[in-house]
Amino acid sequence: MTYTPAENRYQQFEYSRCGKSGLSLPPLSLGLWHNFGSVDDFENARELVRFSFDRGITHFDLANNYGPVPGSAETNFGRILKMDFSDYRDEMIISSKAGYEMWEGPYGDWGSKKYLVASLNQSLQRVGVEYFDVFYSHRPDPETPIEETVDALEYAVRSGKALYVGLSNYNADQTEAAYGELLKRGIRCLIHQPRYNMIDRRPEEGVLDTLDRLGMGAIVFSPLEQGILSDRYLGGIPKASRATRGEFLNEEKVLGYQRIAHGLNEIATERGQTLAQMALAWVLKRPTVTSALVGASSTSQIAENLGSLKKLDFSEDELKRIDSVIAAS
Ligand SMILES: NC(=O)c1ccc[n+]([C@@H]2O[C@H](COP(=O)([O-])OP(=O)(O)OC[C@H]3O[C@@H](n4cnc5c(N)ncnc54)[C@H](OP(=O)(O)O)[C@@H]3O)[C@@H](O)[C@H]2O)c1
Repeated sequence: MTYTPAENRYQQFEYSRCGKSGLSLPPLSLGLWHNFGSVDDFENARELVRFSFDRGITHFDLANNYGPVPGSAETNFGRILKMDFSDYRDEMIISSKAGYEMWEGPYGDWGSKKYLVASLNQSLQRVGVEYFDVFYSHRPDPETPIEETVDALEYAVRSGKALYVGLSNYNADQTEAAYGELLKRGIRCLIHQPRYNMIDRRPEEGVLDTLDRLGMGAIVFSPLEQGILSDRYLGGIPKASRATRGEFLNEEKVLGYQRIAHGLNEIATERGQTLAQMALAWVLKRPTVTSALVGASSTSQIAENLGSLKKLDFSEDELKRIDSVIAAS
């Protein structure tokens, strides 16, 4: 059936400018790392994108290696675009990245210009678009001079293959160096994609302050710690959950966080929220965080996650109690 997006999709929440740029992003964005691969149910993936767009989620995040198999999330998203969104490309922010292993040999990994440009071209072809809104260096490469990685990002912008560029998994110093090198070439680095949630606070050690100072925005990934910070595992490990797939999350890790999850869930309940809603509100409380990049396997998860936007404020006491639940474990 032909898809017609919901008319009220832009009345759901406020969009915020990403750092000191003109680009506005939704507070929640959809990540396609899991549940969009060739091993997954294509019609479910299609429904997740439609459901999100109908509710104002304009930003969809990819990487060359998302699948499995690597590349298949881009291919599937490209099919969805063609089937349902051909009239709506200008209403969407589509990002992709390169930096992790994608193909064999010395040119299929890390941060050389050779790899990043070849991968960008492949990703554009798989998704079937002329440009990405944001193209990222997915991780810093200790063996490649930052000038060369930045060469690739500059090429992406100058060639029109990306409108903006971003960094992911860079620490504060690496971020500053890449930002400065891009600026020398007349390009402002738009955004950083760090891993950040109530349990994983590493960006507080410098990255978020650096982004503030540089005027870059942050879009934080795994805000639900892959589902640990939701009710997904409060009653055990459900079949077909990410923890049963084992590659990036396993039962041992989930069980190790049970006490924290239950303790935080009590605070969420008192706030009138689910644990996932509190976890998302928590990452969004810092103004540098323009958007929380969430994954989902069902539309009901997306609906629940959007409910977080109804209560974003925290009292000092709630914040202290969250910290003490985490510190106690
Ligand atoms: N730059 C990088 O290096 C990097 C790395 C990782 C991720 N990312 C990006 O960040 C995105 C999000 O990462 P993530 O998927 O790890 O994020 P996440 O939001 O922490 O975890 C998503 C998972 O949590 C579960 N979930 C989501 N909402 C739920 C709810 N309301 N109730 C219960 N369970 C819920 C689902 O698990 P089930 O599938 O089990 O239902 C879902 O797949 C990725 O898709 C990708 O775009 C970037």
